[in-house]
Amino acid sequence: MASVVEAAFLVISCFLCSVLLGFSNAAPTFNVVKFGAKPDGKSDSTEPFMRAWNSACTSLSAATIYVPKGRYLLRNINFRGPCKRKVTFLIAGTLVAPEDYRALGDSGFWILFNHVDNLVVSGGNLDAKGAGFWNCRRSGNDCPVGARTMTFNWVNNLVVSGITSVNSQLSHLVINTCNNVVVKNVRLIAPDQSPNTDGIHVEHSNGITINGCTLQTGDDCISIGEATYNLFMSHIKCGPGHGVSIGSLGKQMDEKGVENVTLTNAIFSGSDNGVRIKTWARPSKGFVRNVLFQNIIMNKVENPIIIDQNYCPNNLGCPGQTSGIKISQITYMNINGSSATPEAVTFDCSPSNPCEGIKLQDINLTYKDKPPTSSCKNINGTSSGTLVPESCL
Ligand SMILES: *[C@@H]1O[C@H](CO)[C@@H](O)[C@H](O)[C@H]1NC(C)=O
Ligand SMILES: *[C@@H]1O[C@H](CO)[C@@H](O)[C@H](O)[C@H]1NC(C)=O
Ligand SMILES: *[C@@H]1O[C@H](CO)[C@@H](O)[C@H](O)[C@H]1NC(C)=O
Ligand SMILES: *[C@@H]1O[C@H](CO)[C@@H](O)[C@H](O)[C@H]1NC(C)=O
Repeated sequence: MASVVEAAFLVISCFLCSVLLGFSNAAPTFNVVKFGAKPDGKSDSTEPFMRAWNSACTSLSAATIYVPKGRYLLRNINFRGPCKRKVTFLIAGTLVAPEDYRALGDSGFWILFNHVDNLVVSGGNLDAKGAGFWNCRRSGNDCPVGARTMTFNWVNNLVVSGITSVNSQLSHLVINTCNNVVVKNVRLIAPDQSPNTDGIHVEHSNGITINGCTLQTGDDCISIGEATYNLFMSHIKCGPGHGVSIGSLGKQMDEKGVENVTLTNAIFSGSDNGVRIKTWARPSKGFVRNVLFQNIIMNKVENPIIIDQNYCPNNLGCPGQTSGIKISQITYMNINGSSATPEAVTFDCSPSNPCEGIKLQDINLTYKDKPPTSSCKNINGTSSGTLVPESCL
């Protein structure tokens, strides 16, 4: 009898002590400086960051990696999961890439998160020092492929917030093969003429919210690639840059579609495009359907509303062909402001796959205080409400 009571007591006390231990261990914080990172902007902190990641990722309770104020030099770094519990990456400082753009090499990434479930990346500044790389590309020299600043591959349940990224070599932020993602309050900045510096690129991902972002880039503010489903964007400031673009799509025959995309409450300023859908003039099984662009202000935007299904750079691999991408159920609603060119609405759809179910409602755009024009090819749909320019649907 006594031994049973004793055993029960042992079991209970062990349970209690593990609860207490677990409690005192809850949410441990791993400060990168404790792992040897140096906030001087000169010493290579890649290995200390990696060690901090490994500790957080193998922690038995949710863990935080903390980057205090200061500048931390990082080479390419691959934060790999899976991790045991949720990981929060809390950045108060600035992460800087090596001065020499060739140091990031041909890997395609600078900061990469891979195969992680439940990840928060919050705050801080990222400086990829892209200028040398852009100059190399402009000079036509042999250049490395370049690095995206922060890439998420196979990350589910992700929150990215409060980050400022400047001067990416290529895209600032890439969401690739991720589910259930929130990106909020990020600022992504690169000069107007910097090549291929997309703000946010999304592809092969489902359930993405992008909210409250300021995007000033040399390429698309947000670009949306194949197999993107259920993407909701709101309170976006875009420009300079190439606008919000679904595509380019349809370069390949076997492509997944894009479905359920909303952009609401956005301001475009001096951008090349406002809302664009762009496909290659090539055969493809892809599609774009169920898209809503609404409550948008355009300030001197070159192509405020555009569908271009005749993309064929350098006339290579597409002349004489037409786009196989089927575009349907696209709504443009409550869009005001100014166009920087006389044609404010351009619908250039595929002759072999006409656009269907396109809807214009309450559009009021000016061009130098005159009504601009619109043009329609291979499209059907409806229009209602205020329509300046006059609808060609
Ligand atoms: C698109 O949205 C509709 C309506 O909410 C939903 O039924 C459908 O499953 C969504 N498509 C995808 C690919 O998730
Ligand atoms: C566009 O103008 C109309 C009429 O002035 C106004 O009701 C609407 O709120 C404006 N929309 C936006 C997005 O500013
Ligand atoms: C369209 O916008 C112009 C310039 O902002 C404004 O003067 C005009 O009243 C608007 N038209 C309608 C129908 O809202
Ligand atoms: C658009 O074209 C499709 C296919 O030809 C047709 O089913 C549909 O009724 C057309 N819609 C309008 C508004 O003309």
